[in-house]
Formats: sequence, C-alpha cells, structure tokens
Amino acid sequence: MPQRTYDVFIIGSGIAGLSLALRLADKADVAVVSKFALTDGGTFYAQGGISAVLDAHDSIASHIEDTMNAGAGLCNPEIVELTVKNGKKCINWLLEQGVSFTEEQTRNGNRQLHLHREGGHSHRRIVHAGDATGKAISLSLIARARAHPNIHMFENHNVIDLLTGKKLGLQNQRAVGAYVLDNNKHQIHAIAARIVVLATGGASKVYLYTSNPNVSTGDGIALAWRAGCRVANMEFIQFHPTCLYHPDANSFLISEAVRGEGGKLILPDGSPFMHKYDAREELAPRDIVARAIDDQIKKHGIDCVYLDISHKSGSFIREHFPTIYQRCLKFNIDITKQPIPVVPAAHYTCGGVLTDSYARTDVPGLYAIGEVACTGLHGANRMASNSLLECLVFAERASQDIGRILDEIPAPPVLPPWDESQVSDSDEEVVVSHNWDELRRFMWDYVGIVRTDKRLARAMHRIELLQDEIAEYYGNFRITSDLLELRNLVIVGELIIRCAQHRKESRGLHYTLDYPEPDTSKPPQNTILKPPDPHPPT
Ligand code: FAD
Ligand code: SIN
Repeated sequence: MPQRTYDVFIIGSGIAGLSLALRLADKADVAVVSKFALTDGGTFYAQGGISAVLDAHDSIASHIEDTMNAGAGLCNPEIVELTVKNGKKCINWLLEQGVSFTEEQTRNGNRQLHLHREGGHSHRRIVHAGDATGKAISLSLIARARAHPNIHMFENHNVIDLLTGKKLGLQNQRAVGAYVLDNNKHQIHAIAARIVVLATGGASKVYLYTSNPNVSTGDGIALAWRAGCRVANMEFIQFHPTCLYHPDANSFLISEAVRGEGGKLILPDGSPFMHKYDAREELAPRDIVARAIDDQIKKHGIDCVYLDISHKSGSFIREHFPTIYQRCLKFNIDITKQPIPVVPAAHYTCGGVLTDSYARTDVPGLYAIGEVACTGLHGANRMASNSLLECLVFAERASQDIGRILDEIPAPPVLPPWDESQVSDSDEEVVVSHNWDELRRFMWDYVGIVRTDKRLARAMHRIELLQDEIAEYYGNFRITSDLLELRNLVIVGELIIRCAQHRKESRGLHYTLDYPEPDTSKPPQNTILKPPDPHPPT
C-alpha cells in the first residue's frame, strides 16, 4: 500500500481529536482516523455536560477548589487553574462550531445557558444539551470537520503501532507515523506525519461492566507505552455509581445530573442510605457514592440499588432527561413513576499517558489529549463533567504548540511497509474471544471498586499468563481488530494492577482493604511507570 503523508496525524475522532483538527486545519494538512464509525467513542455518549464557571454566584476559585477536593491531594494546581480558567472560552468555541446547548429564560426575558449541578460541584456549572450533550457536540464537530478541505477523515482504521525514529533506527527519535489496519479491506498501511497525536479515549473496556462504548480499549495508552512514554496514575479508575441494571441495557448510564436534580438512592425497601456515608449524601463525589452502593449491595446480598426521581413532575423529568426517560421506558421502567435499578460500572480512566501543559508526551512529536492523557487535572478522582472540559482545553493547548513548531519539523521519512510474510490466518479465534472475557472478568472481580493485595496478586498472575499467550498468537497469526484490542487491553490491565500494587494506601478512587486510609506520613505521590528500554519488539 502506498504511504500517506500529512502534517498532523490525529488518532481519534472524539471531542479531543476533532477539536484539535479544527483548530489546526487552516494552517496544516490533518488526518483523523477512528477505529470504527466517527461517532463511536466516549464523546458521543456523554450525558451530563461540560463544567464551566458561568453563573454569577459561581467563581473560578470555587471550581478550582471543588476539583482539587475531588482529586484527593493529587491534582496539579497549575493544570487545574489553567483548565478551569479556560472553561468559558471553550464553551464559546463550541457555540461557534454550531453546538446548541439547552437554554433557559431569565427573569428579565433574556435567554441564557441552563446549568445543571453534579456531584462534587458546589454550584450549578454544567452546560448541557438536554441529557445527550455528547451527541450534540459530536455531530456538530463531525459536520465541521467534514466540511474542511484540509481535514481527511478515515473511519474503520485501527492503529496498530506508532512508528518513531528510535524504532526505525534513525538518529532522530521523533514520532513519525503509525501502521494502520483498514478494518474493511483487511489491509495494513503506513501513515506518516510530522506530528502524531493520540486522542484515543479511555480504557474502561478492560472491565466486565462499563458505561463505555466498545472502542474504549485503552489503545492509546498501550501505543504510547510501547513507543517509550511514561504512564501515570492508572490505579485511579472511576466507577460511575449509576448505570442501569437490566440484562439487556448494556450498562446504559443514568446521568449524575439525575442526582443533581434531586434523585435519591434507595434500597429495595425504599429506605435511603447515602446519609450514612457522607454529609453531601447523593451529591458526594463519585468514589464515595460508588463505594456506598457497592457496600450496600454486598451487605444486603442484593443485585442493585434504586435511584428515585419520581417525586419530580413528569414534565420536568421528560424535559431534562428525555434520553434516559425513553431508554428506561424501553425496558418497561417509567422513571416518572418508579425508581430506576442501578449499579456502578467502570466509567473513566483518570490516569494515562503522562503529558505536560501543552499535551506533549515523552516522545518528541507525540502529543496525547483527552481521556488517554494524564495531565494532572483529575488527580485521584475526576469530578463530573471535567473531562469534556479537559479535552477542549488541551486540544487548544496542543494546537498552540503545534502551530508554533510545525514549520521547523522535517518531513517524515519513507516508512517500511508492514511485513506479513511470517504469519498465517488464525485457526483458533476462540483464543482471542476467550482471553477477552477472562481478562475483563478478573479485572472486575480482583481490581474493581474494593481491592486487596491478594486480589491484585491473583490478577497479576493471570495477566502474565495471558501476555505470554497473546504474544505468541500475535507473532504467528494475521492480525484482526479484536486481537489488536486484546493486546492493548492486557497492557492496560497490567499497568492498572502495577499502579494499584504500588499504592500502599487508599486515596480517591483507589480503595484497598489492606490500607483503608490515606498515608499521611508523606506528601501524596503520583504513580509514574516507565516502560522498559528497549521495549520488546512489536
Ligand atoms: P473518545 O470520545 O472516546 O474518542 C476516542 C476516539 O479514538 C474514537 O474515535 C476511537 O475510534 C478512536 N480510537 C481509539 N483507539 C483507536 C485506534 N487504535 N485506532 C484508531 N482510532 C482509535 N465527561 C464529561 O465531562 N461530561 C459528561 O457528561 C460525560 N458523560 C459521559 C457519559 C458516558 C456514557 C461516558 C462513557 C463518558 C462520559 N464522560 C463525560 C466522559 C467523556 O465523555 C470522555 O472522557 C470524553 O468524551 C473522551 O473524549 P476523547 O476525545 O478523549 O475520546
Ligand atoms: C454523567 O452524566 O453522569 C456523566 C458525567 C461525567 O462522567 O462527567
């Protein structure tokens, strides 16, 4: 296959990837690839909204304080300030791109953006488009990107591995492109670029139960790790407290905004329980609410708890939560009249590829933006609706840096073609599907909301067995999309467990029965892992 060459190669078509593409497109030729459809990603499914200080009673200082409180001592204060201060500007940018957010009428008859409230936020500051904010953003950005002549979008293109000068044995160690599998044509080609950007989203698919779509297999984290980047804070996996509990619902999310608007968590007998865990009750940060639900489920031997918003009027519920209302109705749950069965599920990867304040990674020419990155904003626990904000802010930061240096960067080299001469078609694809299931199940059982040293050791043992099997399979058989994802997921699993084993305390989202309290004997530390050098060949 002929090599394609661009100025900037962005891997991912969510809010992070597309907003960077749109910001760069007037000065650069940009390629954007997505593993499946352009809309397949965390962004499209975002419900609650984007946090930004817009209310007259709110303040930047308050948003900073709430974010730092949720982050349990591990947020980087400079990054928090930078992000929060850019909130309003980013919302205005989205409005310019044609995103229409929910508005309300003020007392004097003017229109203004309606703001929701969510857990951990001490003010109303969530800008939203009903309860389908991500869909509104995604469709607007995709339409804008499609209309731009300098943005070239490739769907169903799965990035296999990054190419760096180091891997190619060149003097210059920069990122220069990647090998990509065209899922439809089953062909592998190289894409070369001056700058490569990871915007691949999160890794929650490593858990059996997740609110995330299928693409969230942590590919960018594994790609960066294999390319030589440090990865940080992977123990901090956020479990969203309230996903719909129904055998056919595929972990559909019930937005935190439902609790923000007065939804109460109750047991099957109707009794509330959040007051036993935190004075903020339903509006406590997610780690506290998820652990409380987990505790109640285990204590009472029940399958789920219930979220009840039925005390609000039917018209209020249908107006504020139309998607959730319709989706629940499909399962014969009328949320205007009855409580919603809910359980926690893996939702957000707070750690990721370590970046600086311009989204630069350890490899020159390689950037990471959005959920794949660990910028220092979230610390040990992300506050609701701070993720979309982070995606927007760091896409802008990366665009500033790339715009400044692009002209000085040499054109990428000619890349060697992918070599398939040593492999054959698999005769046992069941190995891949079996290992997928096994990995996700033991990650859920042993590396979930409540951990212990013993459970982590068990999980690590299984990871090592899987890694050997997958490496052998990868070396012998022609690759498929499922195999690529499995190979990445097992690295993500390893990184989560290693970080969790390293942290001998409970902090934020990492809770272990062996060390149930934060370690106050020293200042809180980030967990930073460095890949082996040289990394095993890929
Ligand atoms: P994504 O939107 O996940 O996009 C990732 C992209 O990378 C996709 O295009 C995918 O195809 C591509 N990709 C991945 N791997 C490869 C590969 N190997 N090759 C090629 N392409 C690849 N956050 C908030 O702030 N507010 C909310 O209200 C909110 N609600 C949420 C609700 C749900 C149900 C979920 C799942 C998440 C929610 N979040 C919310 C989190 C937020 O949506 C995500 O963190 C954010 O959208 C991530 O955006 P992103 O651009 O980094 O990645
Ligand atoms: C939600 O709507 O509850 C999701 C918000 C988020 O993950 O930030």
